[in-house]
Amino acid sequence: MSDDILSVRDLKLSVKGDAGLAQILDHVDFAVKPGEVMGLVGESGCGKSTLIRTILGLPPKGARIDSGTVAFRGRNLLDPKEAQQIRGREIGFIPQDPFQAFNPVFTVGAQILEILRWSGLPDDPKGARYDKSLRARHKARLIEVLRAVQIPDPEEALDRYPHQFSGGQRQRILIAGALATRPSLILADEPTTALDVTTQMQILRLLRELAADYNVAMLFVTHDFGVVAQICDRVSVMYAGQTVETGTTPQIIDGPRHPYTGMLMACHPERSTEITGIPGQVSSPLTPPPGCRFAPRCPRATEACTSARPGLLNSRDGRQLACVHEEEFA
Ligand SMILES: Nc1ncnc2c1ncn2[C@@H]1O[C@H](COP(=O)(O)OP(=O)(O)OP(=O)(O)O)[C@@H](O)[C@H]1O
Ligand SMILES: [Mg+2]
Repeated sequence: MSDDILSVRDLKLSVKGDAGLAQILDHVDFAVKPGEVMGLVGESGCGKSTLIRTILGLPPKGARIDSGTVAFRGRNLLDPKEAQQIRGREIGFIPQDPFQAFNPVFTVGAQILEILRWSGLPDDPKGARYDKSLRARHKARLIEVLRAVQIPDPEEALDRYPHQFSGGQRQRILIAGALATRPSLILADEPTTALDVTTQMQILRLLRELAADYNVAMLFVTHDFGVVAQICDRVSVMYAGQTVETGTTPQIIDGPRHPYTGMLMACHPERSTEITGIPGQVSSPLTPPPGCRFAPRCPRATEACTSARPGLLNSRDGRQLACVHEEEFA
């Protein structure tokens, strides 16, 4: 049996709406090992958030799984009942915007304790009624994790309202909330984009340390290769709903092999002196091009690229790659 904590295999998902059938994910394929930080990278609109929601068992309304599997330690996350048991307990979630994640009229303690009441903690006594003593246990655990994320005076912090914290502190509190149930996997959807760069650096360092201290694996969504270099062990690159390349962070950053990965890297301000960008736009999932979805923007595209979707191949250096021009390396 595989030792993957999360595996997404051949996942194809479409959503039927007024405008037609949106083919949002088209054979997404990667796996995360226990304790590993995996980056998920791709331009805006390539399906990252849809994928995260699907892993949490909350796909968009009207979504249809056309093929593939999503499993957490071998358990089927595409089964809504199974996913409901797992999310918020064994899989934690850190949202993108710490300014929007809290309700302004309740204290942060009340809000997170309410979530813990619903999810329970793994060491709660079996069948215990939610009473003062169970709430006290949850509070003690929350104070412990607030201390781990370096919130000063955690006991007192629980009684404060969201507006009494800075954005960085709020994000730390959300991270504490995600860690409280001792998950073995955390999904983070661009958790630092709403923060200034200095705070972003501090939060990334903290996440890196926590992942190691708590031995928690992370799937970290970002479109920033600078963030990838700081925090990720491996990276999976997506383009318009298709997985194009997965490898270790040094492999991807120092030697990208898929043309899209290379062009995306070249857009990074630290790597280029001119702002070139990638010509063209990500295709709409309503009208995806045939074959490799990057072909219309790819300088290396040939007829073979549009005749069939390139399969994901294991290359000799251990990465997965979906490009017909790279098949000779497999
Ligand atoms: N419910 C839906 N119905 C139809 N299309 C949708 C739905 N949800 C998302 N999409 C489309 O699916 C594509 C992927 O969206 P998604 O939000 O997953 O991208 P993303 O990679 O997270 O982008 P960003 O980096 O901007 O957050 C987009 O083209 C979006 O318009
Ligand atoms: Mg998104």
